[in-house]
Amino acid sequence: MSGSYPNVRMRRTRASGWARNMYRETVMTPADLIWPLFVTEGSGVEEPIATLPGVSRWSIDGIAARAREAVELGIPCVALFPNTPADKRSDDGAEALNPDNLMCRAIKAIRDACGSDIGILTDVALDPYTAHGQDGLIDAAGYVVNDDTVAVLVDQSLNQAEAGADIIAPSDMMDGRVHAIRLALEMNGHPNVQIMSYAAKYASAFYGPFRDAVGSSGLLKGDKKTYQMDPANSDEALREVALDIAEGADSVMVKPGLAYLDIIYRVKQEFGIPVFAYQVSGEYAMIEAAQAAGIGDRDALLMEKLIAFKRAGCSGVLTYHAPVAARILNC
Ligand code: PBG
Repeated sequence: MSGSYPNVRMRRTRASGWARNMYRETVMTPADLIWPLFVTEGSGVEEPIATLPGVSRWSIDGIAARAREAVELGIPCVALFPNTPADKRSDDGAEALNPDNLMCRAIKAIRDACGSDIGILTDVALDPYTAHGQDGLIDAAGYVVNDDTVAVLVDQSLNQAEAGADIIAPSDMMDGRVHAIRLALEMNGHPNVQIMSYAAKYASAFYGPFRDAVGSSGLLKGDKKTYQMDPANSDEALREVALDIAEGADSVMVKPGLAYLDIIYRVKQEFGIPVFAYQVSGEYAMIEAAQAAGIGDRDALLMEKLIAFKRAGCSGVLTYHAPVAARILNC
């Protein structure tokens, strides 16, 4: 009768909850999450973002409270994005260099509230500060010029490091910026400030709600295709990552997340460097929309997507769902 039984029963280790727990290959904890937060002026202000249901811009007091919440939930790091008032935006994005800008005040408030219990990641790019919504300086033709932009990004990075940022995260995709920022951090007494480069950042349709959140969507003319990557390319992503590692990045990011799991996997296999995925605003909004439309259960959809990032090789994930996911993981 031996031929009538399967030699191997894959279902045996799936037959009970304890066995599934024991055989699970990939685990996720709140320490795998980075929580992006939007900062706005004022005090006691919470502004819901229509295209990101469940996410608000907070004034600095609220940001400090969110950071304390992150610590309590076991989330190790928050990422800050300012919604700069229109009258402080300019063609050269000079507000990015103001030591008293929203970003710097938010960094200090979080440090006051949480000490060194939390990592503070700051985005480096000019789009929250420019009147034209591009990530850098533009020439007469509207082209984002590389080297002059890098010079400003270096000053922006130093401004954030002086205020107390732990991780500088350049999201601008200019060439050579990681090297220039690393050098400036070393020369100005910030040897332990990390760089997490948005190494493979694609020109994506998934960023729409974010541009609403930082107030740049109405300003942006054209697109960002002369610096962000073509979604059709993956060898090019490996070259970007190789360069950023050589230039001094401590970790790299792939962005957006879910549509680019193959890139995460290739980067991890090829370089073995810590890789983070940014589950971007459009991805967040799609999960919320699915729940609202009765298509699926938000928590289940979310956790399945998050474990996919870890399975692909990520050390962690930036997600607006970080507090929701941490609560699920903690219970
Ligand atoms: C800007 C920046 C963007 C995001 C993070 N930093 C938008 C863009 O490149 O236009 C997108 C994040 C998201 O969609 O959640 N430098």
